[in-house]
Amino acid sequence: MTGDASRSSFPLDRLPRHIAFIMDGNGRWARARGLQRLLGHENGAISIRRISRFCRSIGISEVTFYALSTENFARRPKTEVSLLLRLLKDFLVSERAELLDNDIRLTHMGHVEKFPPEVLRELEETERLTREKRGMILRLALNYGGRQEILDGIAALAAEGAAGKLSAAEVRGMGEAGFQRYLYDPSMTDPDLLIRTAGEYRLSNFLLWQASYTEIWVTKDLWPDFGVPALQQALKDYCSRERKYGAIHDEASGQENGSASRSGGTPEKLGSRPIR
Ligand code: FPP
Repeated sequence: MTGDASRSSFPLDRLPRHIAFIMDGNGRWARARGLQRLLGHENGAISIRRISRFCRSIGISEVTFYALSTENFARRPKTEVSLLLRLLKDFLVSERAELLDNDIRLTHMGHVEKFPPEVLRELEETERLTREKRGMILRLALNYGGRQEILDGIAALAAEGAAGKLSAAEVRGMGEAGFQRYLYDPSMTDPDLLIRTAGEYRLSNFLLWQASYTEIWVTKDLWPDFGVPALQQALKDYCSRERKYGAIHDEASGQENGSASRSGGTPEKLGSRPIR
């Protein structure tokens, strides 16, 4: 996964640490070619590989792909969901060697317990094999919904309260960083950049808690067409943005006001909560 990184078009020290992707447009890509939807998803899986490879090559720490939402899982025809799950299973097997060779840890978030056992087996195996890899995290959001994640967190909190493990005062005092411990992946950093393909301006229930201050980039490209040049363009734009996190920029001195303001680059702390 070293390949074709063009390091000249953006400053490496301002790159996002974590990029999240809403991969939209597989169906439209297939329809435009008179193909079945499955072929759109198959080519979408190839895009995941291409984009992960490039992200790894330029030193991105985390990538999260919205592969299946709770709404997709519940509302799409059963045949399409089955095809997507088969594709996921194949992907988990076919990518293993590349993940291992390139020091990438594969992980997931979402209600996968509803998946067929053979898919779960491959997911667990790929996660197990790559657990110690530290070069990059490749996270798949699978049967994932942002509202459900927050509800699940509240339910876990309430259960601890009911069991006498957590007082009302502790809940009140835990703050945002404390609540993050009840989300699906407490170690996940907030995405710095969220890329959505196929021209739709929506979050679609993705990372509702984590994306509070995420920079958003929308492209008309359909996901199977989304390639390295388009990602480079998004990164270049991201690197030029000023991230203020609600603070102000002191234009007179050119200094950013307070510790919360920065553009791109490495994470900082605002109080106890990591901000990006
Ligand atoms: C949106 O396209 C895409 C999805 C619902 C699924 C994303 C899945 C993949 C990229 C491939 C399979 C994933 C893995 C991990 C192997 P759409 O079908 O909503 O497109 P449309 O809006 O044009 O119909």
